[in-house]
Amino acid sequence: MLEVTVVLENKSSEPLYLQLYNYFKQEIQNGTIKPREMLPSKRKLSLHLGISQNTVETAYQQLLAEGYVDSVPRKGIFANEINTDLILKPSIDSSKNSEVLKEESESYLVDFSHGRIALEHFPYTIWRRLTIETLYEDQSTFFLNGDCQGELPLREQIAAYLFQSRGVKCSPEQIIVGAGTQYLIGLLTMIIGRDAIFSMEDPGYHRTREAFKDQGVNVIPIPLDDDGISMKHLYESKAQITYVTPSHQFPIGMVMPITRRMELLKWAEEKDGYIIEDDYDGEFRYRGKPISSLQGLDPNGKVIYLGTFSKSLIPSIRINYMVLPMTLLKTYNNHFSLYKQTVSRLHQHTLWNFMKEGHWERHLNKMRTAYRKKQQTLISSIKKNLGDQVRIIGDDSGLHILLSVQNAMLEKELIVKAKKEKVKVYPSSVYYQDLNSNKRPMVLLGFGGLSESEIEQGILLLKRAWKL
Ligand SMILES: Cc1ncc(COP(=O)(O)O)c(C=O)c1O
Repeated sequence: MLEVTVVLENKSSEPLYLQLYNYFKQEIQNGTIKPREMLPSKRKLSLHLGISQNTVETAYQQLLAEGYVDSVPRKGIFANEINTDLILKPSIDSSKNSEVLKEESESYLVDFSHGRIALEHFPYTIWRRLTIETLYEDQSTFFLNGDCQGELPLREQIAAYLFQSRGVKCSPEQIIVGAGTQYLIGLLTMIIGRDAIFSMEDPGYHRTREAFKDQGVNVIPIPLDDDGISMKHLYESKAQITYVTPSHQFPIGMVMPITRRMELLKWAEEKDGYIIEDDYDGEFRYRGKPISSLQGLDPNGKVIYLGTFSKSLIPSIRINYMVLPMTLLKTYNNHFSLYKQTVSRLHQHTLWNFMKEGHWERHLNKMRTAYRKKQQTLISSIKKNLGDQVRIIGDDSGLHILLSVQNAMLEKELIVKAKKEKVKVYPSSVYYQDLNSNKRPMVLLGFGGLSESEIEQGILLLKRAWKL
């Protein structure tokens, strides 16, 4: 067996799999492990180092994903040749920068960020292959501007996926691709017209609220009840347009039941208004029956459906889309099709091929299982360790939960105490139009980017931080 002399630090803030991954990566980069040399089997290495096979598996998966090794079926894992010229050596200035960044991320042992996803499952090798194939595909036109609505074959794939999995009924012509929810909200505000009266859930997604405000529209905050946006308050307001997150209210997390969906659709019809349905993480549902999107339930063309690949694939790709009802599509075609497409054609074509070849469906299935497991670990760890002074809110779907904590600490104190134990948790009050209107001490915990052991460690540290 290849000699493995790594010393793993059990007490280090760096998870074991990462230490092991870094060890192999360095040895391959500096040539100590030669190209085509076989790495020890998972079983042998786990026995040799006294660690679990899962830890070895995760480290190997990461090496595989990054191309440091290749897996040959029924033979084993082999080191790849690495072009060392391509390995970045930090310049003096950038190393200073990276020190600052490192300090920032190292100051936390566990970061319950809700913007992170399970990158360890991103099909990097497939994505790299498809990106390269895309570059070879059609060089004559590929570097020129594409369709302003987004590449048609991608929109066809999206329309088929939306119908089958979210019940959205639309043709590819109704889909506008764009880079980011905030960009699409800006475009949509112009299409609807700034004279309309806009409203949104309160608490709600602060980035959408900012995007509306920056368009110069005044957004009426509508409080929530147990089922989502309050119909009573919506009717009392003069709003004609409302923005909601029915699959997993952001940040509180309730799934809007069918009765409320029907009431909301009736409201839109009566007001001759529109509902903006942001289905940002609707792919990940853990309990309850699947409910069709509002768009799919609406016979009257009163819903604009917003979707994103940020949660389900990767946030950096910046591929979002909106589905316009026919009336708004007409306005778009008449006045706004002069706006060029904001997403790179290269990414759009890569994603199209990814969907066409069936990788998207497989990826979603894999992620559903991965996030379900992570969420179960989080919930059971909270129940086991934090006792009855905490209440879990919004755990039916999505990649985050809210924790209401009743130990006499205010939200800020909960965050500061957690920071002392090197755990980052996030405030909920920033999502309220009026920061002071949130009276319940609640913090937001995302779990997508954490391993199960990091989640468990994080909860144990919170128990100590909050004296529960
Ligand atoms: C409510 C809501 N909508 C949309 C998004 C995604 O935004 P984007 O697609 O611009 O990355 C998020 C991400 O956290 C979100 O919480």
